[in-house]
Amino acid sequence: MLQSRHPSYLGMFSNFMARTVLFILLSLLFSPSFSHGETVEGGFISVDIFDKGLDFVKDLLVHKAVSSLIPLQLPQIEKYVKIPIVGEVHIVLSNITIYQVHVSSSTVEPGDTGITIVASGATANLSMDWRYSYSTWLFPIGFSDKGGASVQVEGLEVGLTLGLKNQQGTLKLSVLECGCYVKDISIKLDGGASWLYQGVVDAFGGKIGSSVEDAVSKKLEDGIVKLDSLLQSLPKEVAIDDTAALNVTFVNDPVLSYSSIDLEIDGLFTATDEVVVSNHYYENIRSSVFFCQGPAKMVGISLHENVLNSASFVYFNADFMHWSVDKIPDQSLLNTAGWRHIVPQLYKKYPNDDMNLNISVSTPPIIKIAQENINAKVYLDVTIDVLDAGEVIPVACISVIIRLSGSAEISRNNLAGSVKLNDFSMSLKWSEIGKLHMQLIQTVMSTILKTVFLPYVNLRLRRGFPLPLFHGYRLQNTQILCTDSRIVICSDVASLKQYNLNPLMVY
Ligand SMILES: *[C@@H]1O[C@H](CO)[C@@H](O)[C@H](O)[C@H]1NC(C)=O
Ligand SMILES: *[C@@H]1O[C@H](CO)[C@@H](O)[C@H](O)[C@H]1NC(C)=O
Ligand SMILES: *[C@@H]1O[C@H](CO)[C@@H](O)[C@H](O)[C@H]1NC(C)=O
Ligand SMILES: *[C@@H]1O[C@H](CO)[C@@H](O)[C@H](O)[C@H]1NC(C)=O
Repeated sequence: MLQSRHPSYLGMFSNFMARTVLFILLSLLFSPSFSHGETVEGGFISVDIFDKGLDFVKDLLVHKAVSSLIPLQLPQIEKYVKIPIVGEVHIVLSNITIYQVHVSSSTVEPGDTGITIVASGATANLSMDWRYSYSTWLFPIGFSDKGGASVQVEGLEVGLTLGLKNQQGTLKLSVLECGCYVKDISIKLDGGASWLYQGVVDAFGGKIGSSVEDAVSKKLEDGIVKLDSLLQSLPKEVAIDDTAALNVTFVNDPVLSYSSIDLEIDGLFTATDEVVVSNHYYENIRSSVFFCQGPAKMVGISLHENVLNSASFVYFNADFMHWSVDKIPDQSLLNTAGWRHIVPQLYKKYPNDDMNLNISVSTPPIIKIAQENINAKVYLDVTIDVLDAGEVIPVACISVIIRLSGSAEISRNNLAGSVKLNDFSMSLKWSEIGKLHMQLIQTVMSTILKTVFLPYVNLRLRRGFPLPLFHGYRLQNTQILCTDSRIVICSDVASLKQYNLNPLMVY
């Protein structure tokens, strides 16, 4: 779980000790397992929507609610009204339509019971048609008239409490409470007699008000049902490419705290090809608290190193990690002549023959994330092939252990990265050409790693993989940091198209 560290009220905790204490306190607060000693399985990716992000979503929801609300037709109202002097009049208000709603302020607050959204001081404009008829003993044939009217509703308060739960891996949104309250209405009739105005206000004012209250509540509940079915229809897997998919199944119930909503998703890569059964086991991890530094951000996304390791595993199994290299920047290294001084016996046996390097990763690379630091250990087998008379002859194989350090970055909505070589060690695995001088080969290997292996890996890493995010939105003002076993991304979100809420959340 991530917590936005708002500088204004947490500024005093700026030194490391205080932060550690706070960290422990928050861990105690938010993971009951801490005190009870049982493990709560956490997702490998967690997404926290902070205050600022909640406001953003709330504004989208309110905008969406208003635009789906109008025009809203209310049921016709009719009544026999006793008017002094005139007598009993049959008045019908029809075609009552809310055609404009203006929300001046709204708030959102997650809490134990649910997420409460309140729009207050809203106004609404309605139009309607009126008609009346009556007869008196003097004129039994009767009088009638009709016209239009406009109604202004002031002080409209709408409150909505939503429940958000995990239902078999998808989010279930439900309406726990929905209320609408009209404070005041004013009616303006076009035409009609003066008694009519008073009659309509007295007899219908309350009824129009409660009709607005009912209709708005009903419409909002319908809207939430639609939003819920949209959430239910979200896929549980997002294809990354032909080989891998990201498991975006929600795990655990969302944690609603006073200023954030924490969602956890499984977050592991799985092989698209179901023939390759991924029986890789990742230890359960416990949700943990992290901070976004600096100015408040909308969302925090934290990725456990197992996300990267599951990717490593899937691509390794899909045979993505070996390369046959026949072109390198220093092409002389791919001819036995270039090795004349390094491995004289090779040149002697196969003079001036071209060579191939067969580089293959021998176990899935293990990635570790530490404070400000991503490390990976890669085991390579580099087989030296000689091309002699149209034949590929493997002549030696060198095992190389490479230590890489990496950095992560956000490129568009992708988590991308790059690695650099820290150091490597080598040993001869086998040789058909006798003993090799490993010290002499060291320099050649270093060149090959730097000019062939790393550029290749970095080319792939730079593309990265998409973060499970709201489709149609992009990250901006993004900060990325590495902490113990996690990459933490703190970011704002902007919609690519203003108020494009449909669909709200499709990966
Ligand atoms: C209802 O009112 C709207 C606008 O106020 C008008 O365009 C429409 O024709 C009316 N419908 C009927 C059936 O009178
Ligand atoms: C709608 O009502 C508000 C006040 O409730 C008023 O200020 C505004 O002019 C009205 N708009 C229209 C189009 O009638
Ligand atoms: C995706 O994650 C869920 C929750 O962790 C798990 O139950 C499910 O088996 C996973 N799906 C695949 C295809 O691995
Ligand atoms: C490359 O080497 C691996 C073993 O290191 C071997 O399995 C594979 O067949 C070789 N590929 C080529 C094209 O030589």
